[in-house]
Amino acid sequence: MMRRPVRVAVTGAAGAISYSLLFKIAAGEMMGKDQPVILQLIEIPQAMDALRGVAMELMDCAYPLLHTITLHDNVEDGFKNAHYALLVGARPRGPGMERSDLIEVNGEIFARQGKALNDYANRDVKVLITGNPANTNALIASRNAPDLSPSQFTCLTRLDHNRAKGILANQTGATPRDVNGIIVWGNHSPTQYPDLHHATILGEPAINQVDMNWYKEEFIPKVQQRGSEIIQARGLSSAASAAQAIVDHMHDWVLGTEPGEVASMGILSDGSYGVEKGIFYSFPVRCNYGRYQIVQGIELNDFSKECLKVTEQELLEEKAVVNHLLPEETAASH
Ligand code: NAD
Ligand code: LMR
Repeated sequence: MMRRPVRVAVTGAAGAISYSLLFKIAAGEMMGKDQPVILQLIEIPQAMDALRGVAMELMDCAYPLLHTITLHDNVEDGFKNAHYALLVGARPRGPGMERSDLIEVNGEIFARQGKALNDYANRDVKVLITGNPANTNALIASRNAPDLSPSQFTCLTRLDHNRAKGILANQTGATPRDVNGIIVWGNHSPTQYPDLHHATILGEPAINQVDMNWYKEEFIPKVQQRGSEIIQARGLSSAASAAQAIVDHMHDWVLGTEPGEVASMGILSDGSYGVEKGIFYSFPVRCNYGRYQIVQGIELNDFSKECLKVTEQELLEEKAVVNHLLPEETAASH
């Protein structure tokens, strides 16, 4: 029997990421091949013509699972009753910029969007922030949505996770499906820590199959700098791979991680692994029944502990910069 359609709101729907993302969602890659979707597409007023063009193309694909498309030039209408909200719309960085340079321009957007989710979305809405700087924008959005639980907000570090998996597979001659247990800790930024100490390739420890020098001197910086490397090469930031990561993140959150596998998700720190509470930090999680749980009990050596601290410190600094966009926490927000 066909399920009832779910409402998926997407901001930045006429942008580069969405031009891959929306077609994957409509094809059933994100919510499952038996789940019809209503797409609530949101753009700024100046981009509504382009958005109408995207909507025409979606219709022309005649996807069996695409129930309805609605177009909105404001988030207050666009988020109405949304079960899932994908916050993609924001300014991307160009060559020579860091993602944190976007804090000032993008921060305000996420304060308004948090309020709109609070006032208009379904009470169980699941939110994923992709617009950069993603972790700190997630903090801003969640703090501006006092009636929703902060656990309903997440940010995208799955792209970093997938990059780490792909680069490791390529280096060792494995295929990505043979690689398990990758963890990306911290910020979606050059301080992130892609950790291979718990990863396996065909069930054997990955760390024994690579040179330690390669791991520390090449692999870690490559994953950390992959976004910039792509901007340098393309002149534009990653788009199709970001869309795939959004699909993977939401798919795992809603439908569950593969048995035995972990995912990396940016979530509000609860103090696990000594990470200060109150920042959005990427942790290893397992998901089932529509919930995520941090994987506990992972042993961290001194090198890893130091890497976790460096990226935590950066997030605390970003938090201080956006303090004016963070209303006081209320009892309801916890
Ligand atoms: P893009 O410029 O192609 O598209 C962004 C779209 O958002 C534009 O169409 C713009 O009109 C729209 N927009 C801007 N402000 C909006 C608002 N307030 N409401 C609704 N729509 C709005 O950019 P893109 O390549 O699609 O990237 C989008 C964002 O995602 C950027 O901030 C980029 O840095 C970020 N990004 C994050 C990751 C990650 O892994 N977290 C990966 C790739 C890109
Ligand atoms: C990425 O990692 O590709 C995105 O965050 C875009 C960027 O600015 O690097």
